[in-house]
Amino acid sequence: MNVRFADRRPEGAFALALPLTVGKPDAGRIATLAGDAAAFVEQAAAAQRFEGEPGATAELFAPNGAGVLRVVLAGLGEGDAEALYERAGGAIVARLQLSGEKTLVIDVTGQHMSGEHAARIAFGAVLRNWRYDVHRTKLKAAQKPSIEEIVVVGAGDAAEAAWAKLKAVADGVAFTRELVTEPANIIYPESFVERCERLKALGVEITVLGTEEMEKLGMGALLGVAQGSVRPARLIAMRWKGSDAEPIAFVGKGVTFDTGGISIKPAAGMEDMKWDMGGAGAVAGAMMALAGRKAKAHVIGVCGLVENMPDGNAQRPGDVVTSMSGQTIEVINTDAEGRLVLCDAITWVQRTYGVKTIVDLATLTGAMIISLGHEHGGLFANDDTLADQLLVSAKAAGDPLWRFPLGDAYDKLIDSPIADMKNVGPRYGGSITAAQFIKRFVEDGVKWAHLDIAGMVWAAKAGPTWDKGATGFGVRIIDRFVADHIEQR
Ligand code: BES
Ligand code: ZN
Ligand code: ZN
Repeated sequence: MNVRFADRRPEGAFALALPLTVGKPDAGRIATLAGDAAAFVEQAAAAQRFEGEPGATAELFAPNGAGVLRVVLAGLGEGDAEALYERAGGAIVARLQLSGEKTLVIDVTGQHMSGEHAARIAFGAVLRNWRYDVHRTKLKAAQKPSIEEIVVVGAGDAAEAAWAKLKAVADGVAFTRELVTEPANIIYPESFVERCERLKALGVEITVLGTEEMEKLGMGALLGVAQGSVRPARLIAMRWKGSDAEPIAFVGKGVTFDTGGISIKPAAGMEDMKWDMGGAGAVAGAMMALAGRKAKAHVIGVCGLVENMPDGNAQRPGDVVTSMSGQTIEVINTDAEGRLVLCDAITWVQRTYGVKTIVDLATLTGAMIISLGHEHGGLFANDDTLADQLLVSAKAAGDPLWRFPLGDAYDKLIDSPIADMKNVGPRYGGSITAAQFIKRFVEDGVKWAHLDIAGMVWAAKAGPTWDKGATGFGVRIIDRFVADHIEQR
């Protein structure tokens, strides 16, 4: 879907969308329709009880010369939070996605809206329009999305520059959603890496480790997870050097399918575990966003990529593995595999790049969904400043986080009688003991945050800026955090 900005409405057929704040009833005037038609728009809006609330829409057909004009009124609510503009854009598209309209004109003329805000409407529209029909061969014409172009009219000069950056973020979110949506016979460690090759065109430097290299480095924890699968593991590092500053690292859990291994999961719902690479997907999408908008930051995105399968070569409950850090782990439950992948990826990025700040993203625990449902991701951190920055950036970006505690009392719950630690603690506080496990691999002096996004990467129903399915959660957190706290330094 192409987005452009213009001073006037285009020639030819289009649907007209008018974003309206609460208590701004002169929709007919804004629609610039002639006398009776203008009054008609207002009556039709009132008849639908449209009052401009956030996310509300009213759709009507107004007489327009010899024909009719499809008009969608979209509520902006009150105030000037960015999310309101994105939500209005999303609501317009939710209404028109399958309408058959090819051109969507979003007219903000005379609305005294900043260019940034106008661009946010387009951003919300583009995000909401994303869906993945690649594997659907029998869609009827009326089931296919129809909007090819959005023309934002009357937005003023700053809108185009704002959109250029937002487009990069929308591209990143779309990339993440694609990776997350693809099933595990299509996205596995090697093919995940292949899809990331497209980042090279944006100037991202890519390093890939295969099984032999990881063996040499002693990544026994990550490789132990992979050994039950015929798909070989990979570790990918994507580096964007948009400044000469010290690098910061984002590390993603990329379990391309999680059967649980020998500690196998129940059959019902297991198909969901194709999206157990949502953390890695978010890291890859964020790298696309940052490089695409040429962020003035030095960022390393690392994904630990494995498939967790049970077979004759799979690791067993009770096995002891040695991580790259040298610490040994008793694998009590092979389904607690994400932490085993992350710990080696985190050791590697510290030793290879000397990073002093690490944020990891992972669909790590079912317990996180019990805690926060599908409304917040969980945040754990060893540094209050980093935690606060992430909380604020995440909220502003529309991908909210909620902080959880860490502490010695939780840490000792993963002590093992046979090794340095075990990979699971008792049932209660499972998300916290998982975070404590990862923390044991964070070296002294390194600021670290862990985002457990298990409840957020996949949505059972559509939201303001996503359809049901992959949400792309995390991309906007990383993008915003880098913009607010790394680039500003
Ligand atoms: N990938 C799962 C966590 C998960 C579960 C994400 C459901 C999204 C939805 C993870 O690898 C896992 O299986 N964790 C176990 C840990 C347990 C064995 C300590 C869990 O949460 O049950
Ligand atoms: Zn698991
Ligand atoms: Zn998992």
